[in-house]
Amino acid sequence: MVKRNPHLAKLHAGYLFPEIAKRKRLFLEKQPNAKLISLGIGDTTEPIPSFITDRFKATADALATYEGYSGYGPEQGHLDLRQAISKALYQNQLDVNEIFISDGSKCDIGRLQVMFGSQASIAVQDPSYPVYVDTGVIMGQTSLYQPQIRQYAGIAYMPCRPENHFFPSLELVSRTDIIYFCSPNNPTGAAATRDQLRQLVQFAKQNKSILIYDAAYACYIRDPSLPRSIYEIEGAREVAIELGSFSKMAGFTGVRLAWSIVPQELRFEDGHPVHQDWSRINSTFFNGASNLAQAGGLAALQPEGCQAMERLITFYMENAALLRQVFEAHGYSVYGGIHTPYLWVKFPHHTSWEAFEILLEKIHIISTPGSGFGPAGEGFLRFSAFGYRDRIEEAVRRLKKHLSSI
Ligand code: MLT
Repeated sequence: MVKRNPHLAKLHAGYLFPEIAKRKRLFLEKQPNAKLISLGIGDTTEPIPSFITDRFKATADALATYEGYSGYGPEQGHLDLRQAISKALYQNQLDVNEIFISDGSKCDIGRLQVMFGSQASIAVQDPSYPVYVDTGVIMGQTSLYQPQIRQYAGIAYMPCRPENHFFPSLELVSRTDIIYFCSPNNPTGAAATRDQLRQLVQFAKQNKSILIYDAAYACYIRDPSLPRSIYEIEGAREVAIELGSFSKMAGFTGVRLAWSIVPQELRFEDGHPVHQDWSRINSTFFNGASNLAQAGGLAALQPEGCQAMERLITFYMENAALLRQVFEAHGYSVYGGIHTPYLWVKFPHHTSWEAFEILLEKIHIISTPGSGFGPAGEGFLRFSAFGYRDRIEEAVRRLKKHLSSI
């Protein structure tokens, strides 16, 4: 018999979203006719703009010809796509060699963990996107799960609550090698200010840590004074890796396309460029993103593509505003939904899973329990604003009717 990887055995539960899917399945077995509305996993619902899908089609057609066929592409991604990312999203401030195209930020996070190895210590916002902690556990960066405090020993949890405006009290955070930071934040919806990011970069510098800045929702920032990239902050190039994604920007959750940025200045303790190791990891574990996806990504970054993406983002943010209004009208403390398609709502009389079950049973709405993102998420539910308008409006009607009795 083969011994199970002991690190996998440390994961205390299934990954959050499959767990929710399981509960949904069980509910539907009991009530097969229920008209469930999912505001759970953040998955895009609007069709991809035809300006982009036309490029998929043309690229697929070309692949059927000798002239247009291509096999493996460069592991780091097509040069024209990297140039377009630098131009459209970073005002040409990035060297294209610092951009690595990938099949998704989740996959990039897993590969980053492999690059840093099992000895690296990590800090995460609490609550946070579960992939940072789970990949760290799988790598063996932590010892056992501590059920009393619902944390893994060895990971620094940085509580982000309404009381600290969802920005960690850095003076209380111990030094770690890696700091994960997501802004605009999944799940709380908080978008860090320029001043907060300056503090964060300074903190990483002082501690000689590497910051992994997850900017997957940057395109949802509505306030032009808020930074969209960590590299808008002076000194960030020496401490930060940034992750970006087409998933929520262009509806590519199924297409799969993302990027990471590793500046040339970023070094390990021994002076070795992080860039070189990241390149080595990518060329070993990955053969480049799909050429179809990259062609679509390139179209998305042309002026017409950018306008079409902006329309998608506006649509989801209108959904978010509708949801926000109903919670506010019922006196709930609601955060997010302004610079992110996620709302973070406090349910004062229930644990997160209790509130999840109540909404499921009473009004057939699926949410995501805040505690699934970390102990500081207890008592909150996250609502995703990705959804068809008529479903969001129906969800608002149901919430209106029942929120006061929850
Ligand atoms: C979420 O709901 O948090 C995201 O859609 C999950 C993901 O991006 O992997």
